[in-house]
Amino acid sequence: MDKIIINGPCKLKGSVQISSSKNACLPILTSTLLFEGPIHFDSLPELDDIETLCQLLETMGAKIIKKDNATIIDASKINKPFADYELVRKMRASILVLGPLLGRFGKAEVSLPGGCAIGTRPIDIHLDGLTKMGASITIEQGYVKATVNKLKGCQIHLPFPSVGATENLMMAAVYAEGETVITNSAMEPEIWALGDFLQRNGVQIEGHGTSKITIIGTKTTLTADKKPLKVMSDRIEALTYIIAGIMTNSEVLVENCEPTHFTAVLDLLDSIGCYLIRNKNSVQVLPSKRTLKKFQLSTGPYPQIPTDVQAQLVALALVIKGESQITETIFENRFMHVPELIRMGASITIKDNSVFIQGGGVLKGAPVMCTDLRASAALVLAALCSEGTSTINRVYHLDRGYDKMEEKLRGLQANCKRVSE
Ligand code: UD1
Repeated sequence: MDKIIINGPCKLKGSVQISSSKNACLPILTSTLLFEGPIHFDSLPELDDIETLCQLLETMGAKIIKKDNATIIDASKINKPFADYELVRKMRASILVLGPLLGRFGKAEVSLPGGCAIGTRPIDIHLDGLTKMGASITIEQGYVKATVNKLKGCQIHLPFPSVGATENLMMAAVYAEGETVITNSAMEPEIWALGDFLQRNGVQIEGHGTSKITIIGTKTTLTADKKPLKVMSDRIEALTYIIAGIMTNSEVLVENCEPTHFTAVLDLLDSIGCYLIRNKNSVQVLPSKRTLKKFQLSTGPYPQIPTDVQAQLVALALVIKGESQITETIFENRFMHVPELIRMGASITIKDNSVFIQGGGVLKGAPVMCTDLRASAALVLAALCSEGTSTINRVYHLDRGYDKMEEKLRGLQANCKRVSE
């Protein structure tokens, strides 16, 4: 198992290129199941989750060719609309194959993802929406078994703007009879990216990126657009490097990102005294001459502060004097980083779904353990500001969603290395 060793405190300097978004790539890759013909992707991020999804598509009969930076996926000959437990358990987003398989082939069998470190994460909103579209769904021996003669377009109001449910239903609606209208849909930029991808492949869709999405079902099988696609950049990765720059009081240029995708967090960072310059496709972090102010925030669905940056903001609060408070509203158990940060000297208490961080103390390097993807990022950030050596274990969590993180940090002059055992 790999470890990352960081000798802190580190001063960062230079620029970092943000990779394509994991959470945009995953639904876009599953939506290749909807189309005939090869689809050409440029520079998919090198992430375990992307690899797992490609393996899953291959088990269903998709042909995948990787050449240099390109990945070509051809789902013309899907012969097994089945997602096995062994792959689904590695990555919950595998449930996103349900909508496209059902829409195009009228049947799908997908392992139930089960809970994960950050919460129970049910899929009732996905299943209720598909049932409303006419699917017969049963749960047998840990598998969702869904069949339908033809899905029917309808009005679906989501009880909560679930990202995954919105994506699954958008994809299911592509071959449904008539019009599907999804209201209270998630508005995350990744939803916009999926809608845009569907549109360029001939799907009649509008409103993606807003709370009302309309899709007119298509009667004939669509053929994929031939132009290579580069998926939008990863807003959570960008924010992680921005926070790294702030925490180490460094000058860092975070390139190839879209600041308009994370305005709420940038506004918060501005309000507490960080020195950031927003450009069209980059954010420059400069050392702030002001003392940063403690803060209070809640996570929420887009355009609010994303839950995926909550752990990194907890790490940020550690270097700001006074008590900051962060409330998590999306997942019920997303403070697994807290006990590990406490091992590094942090003073944090958890009450219900809030954490209270007494910042400004000294952090000391320690051996710590990654528990989930974003918790791992928080540990890396804290290690960059700690005195001495931190050994970050179980970095496979980090590898699920951060493309070449230790390489990128070394490019920013951090004293860090990966050790394989
Ligand atoms: C996606 C992101 C994840 C992010 C999350 C919230 C991907 C691959 N993952 O996850 O990184 O943290 O959005 O922004 O894009 N819920 C239900 N029933 C459902 C579906 C969801 O109760 O059927 C609940 C979940 O348990 C959770 C909340 O709704 O508490 C948000 O979940 P959702 O928006 O669906 O997140 P994911 O799509 O799983």
